[in-house]
Amino acid sequence: MVETKVEGSHGEEMAWALGTRPHVTVTSVTQSAFNWAAAIGQAESPRVDPGRDCDEHHGRGGVTGSSLENGGRLAFTPPRRCPQPTARKMLSRLPASSLKSLRLSGNAPSSLLNNAARNVARVRYSSSNAGASSGAKSFLDSRATLASATLFAVGSVAWYTHLYGSLPFVGEVFANSPAEEGLHPPSYPWSHNGWLDSFDHASIRRGYQVYREVCAACHSLDRIAWRNLVGVSHTVDEAKAMAEEVEYTDGPDDQGEMFQRPGKLSDYLPPPYPNEEAARASNQGALPPDLSLIIKARHGGPDYIFSLLTGYVDPPAGFEIREGMNYNPYFPGNAIGMARVLFDGVVEYEDGTPGTTSQMAKDVATFLNWAAEPEFDERKKTGLKAVILFSALTAISLYVKRFKWSVIKSRKIIYNPPADKPHH
Ligand code: HEC
Repeated sequence: MVETKVEGSHGEEMAWALGTRPHVTVTSVTQSAFNWAAAIGQAESPRVDPGRDCDEHHGRGGVTGSSLENGGRLAFTPPRRCPQPTARKMLSRLPASSLKSLRLSGNAPSSLLNNAARNVARVRYSSSNAGASSGAKSFLDSRATLASATLFAVGSVAWYTHLYGSLPFVGEVFANSPAEEGLHPPSYPWSHNGWLDSFDHASIRRGYQVYREVCAACHSLDRIAWRNLVGVSHTVDEAKAMAEEVEYTDGPDDQGEMFQRPGKLSDYLPPPYPNEEAARASNQGALPPDLSLIIKARHGGPDYIFSLLTGYVDPPAGFEIREGMNYNPYFPGNAIGMARVLFDGVVEYEDGTPGTTSQMAKDVATFLNWAAEPEFDERKKTGLKAVILFSALTAISLYVKRFKWSVIKSRKIIYNPPADKPHH
């Protein structure tokens, strides 16, 4: 007869899944429990003295107890965590042959302890051979030695870095010297810096005005079309009106002639020069780079652009600067072909913001940052949605996993051999 008793109700499983663990006991009174235990290779496991080191036989998971012939109890419990030193002590008391059989039993929960057992065995053997050098060994084992060696190592590293600035083997390697690199820009608190912060769109609109009125005289912005501004800094009507102010070459027409027409939303912002040669010719040989991706193309991004635009100063004494070049500490090499272009009041903002040099530099850097990453706001919004969705799914799947496993993880199988019934 098989009698399986499962204590515990649905409510208790739920409680377990939530962290409180009720008793769920599976009791079987046939030999099948033993057979099953034998099938997973546990029936012949060594007897671990229960109750001495830990309160139960949890030196290892699995089935413990004496063999069937002895009429003992066979109990299966899931492995429980035992404090490491205690587990070791217990395992070290086992005879070597039982350690071997422990090692051979291949079920996963005890493999950790198998390793521990192996280590204990090794340590024991070596320590029993090490009688002669026990003085040196205790010196090596002592905590004072460990502490002072650590202190010495940390101290040497600290002293070396204090003297030379960095360690010889972790130093960074630069292709350029710091002077060639240019001054490193400080990092400014951009309002779009935070994980959940969008661009300041009023600033993008002002920045566009600065680009249009100042930078566009020399720099192209190839990758931005008028339609890209719609909904970002301008309305459709505004963008259309701005596009129509520019003449674009189109064609050919029915006669095979190219013709001029006013711009459309799908046209790209017009370049200031027809080609690179013209651009260089107008700028003493220097090429004003396209600004579409300049934020991504320069180390420091908007910090660098802001610093560059506001960083023009007189060259320090002794710094030779060529005719037509300008001194700027942030530019690699410190001599830049672009002169200072932003001065207080150069741009009169339509929204009334005072057009100071730093305000214009900040706005144009924000605008260029948008031009380089038009997907910026959408990316952060999608990212936030994904984080919320995936954390909810993770939480649900963890809950369901614990719920489904609660019965299996908390059961206890006890085998009671048939008692000899007294005959009357
Ligand atoms: C009079 C023409 C002119 C104007 C106006 C102008 N620039 Fe330039 N810019 C140049 C030239 C020329 C260079 C190339 C400098 C060089 O390579 O030495 C340049 C280079 C740059 C660079 C690249 C620096 C680097 O690290 O390579 C940036 C960024 C830049 N300009 C931004 C701007 C911005 C923003 C504005 C508007 C506020 C602006 N420029 C206005 C001519 C101009």
